[in-house]
Amino acid sequence: MSSSEKKSCLRGVGVTKVFGIGNKAFTAVDHVDFDFKEGEIVSIVGESGSGKTTISKMILGLISVTEGEIYYHDELRDISTGAKRKEYWRNIQAIFQDPFASYNMFYKIDAVLDDCLKMRGEGNLSPQEKFDRMTEACSFVNLKFAELTNKYPFELSGGQMQRLMIARIFLLRPKILLADEPTSMVDACSRATILDYLLKLRDEENMTVVFVTHDIGLAYYVSDKIYIMEHGKFVESGTAEDCILRPQAEYTKRLISDVPKIHEEWDLSTV
Ligand SMILES: Nc1ncnc2c1ncn2[C@@H]1O[C@H](COP(=O)(O)OP(=O)(O)OP(=O)(O)O)[C@@H](O)[C@H]1O
Ligand SMILES: [Mg+2]
Repeated sequence: MSSSEKKSCLRGVGVTKVFGIGNKAFTAVDHVDFDFKEGEIVSIVGESGSGKTTISKMILGLISVTEGEIYYHDELRDISTGAKRKEYWRNIQAIFQDPFASYNMFYKIDAVLDDCLKMRGEGNLSPQEKFDRMTEACSFVNLKFAELTNKYPFELSGGQMQRLMIARIFLLRPKILLADEPTSMVDACSRATILDYLLKLRDEENMTVVFVTHDIGLAYYVSDKIYIMEHGKFVESGTAEDCILRPQAEYTKRLISDVPKIHEEWDLSTV
């Protein structure tokens, strides 16, 4: 299916964030337009400080939008009340750089996963059904639920913790998954594995996956569509091929020239 035939999942028009007021005002995100389709893998690429996390937070509804509109499934997003925010958050989930930040450290792992079922409105499944769902989620990321049940998140290795994060997403089944540098903490091998799990979630659940990264090589490897961000603006956007193989903006060309291997066949062992 071509991109124009796919349904819009999340769309932004003139989305802007200004921090501070008066002569201290700073525009971190400056009138950006975007359209993420259902089941699409999108990357937002830019250098440190370009506004990637700020735009992610607006998309997640964690900070207010100074100007502009965000549409969810072609309807103006309304998160003006607690109940509406909760409903929105059922459809959008994030994984962050630091997996520790994603867990309540005082919850054992079965409680962490049980919480996900509750959030999906599946809190009153029978104990056996819950066990089956959690086991399935863990095996999706190659973890053994039986070996984890009595542990706390901090008793896991970094890689296991990252995979548990994806098991949570598997149970939550959001429509949109936003991943802000999801692989920066892990070694090269688990990094490729985690990316593959995220791609699998897209393939099996038709999830829209939004990667936020400074790594244009990674973006090229995983994305259908790329947005290049510089000083709060999208300076270029398009298919991964168009952006990387036929870049127009000087900034994109510079980002690409920093990655010598980008035109060669992508070798997973270096991801
Ligand atoms: N709460 C805030 N108050 C004031 N300025 C902020 C705030 N949050 C972010 N900024 C500024 O907005 C700009 C963009 O920050 P942001 O965190 O979005 O960058 P980023 O692209 O995610 O960078 P990185 O790749 O380092 O994570 C930065 O100049 C930052 O200092
Ligand atoms: Mg950031």
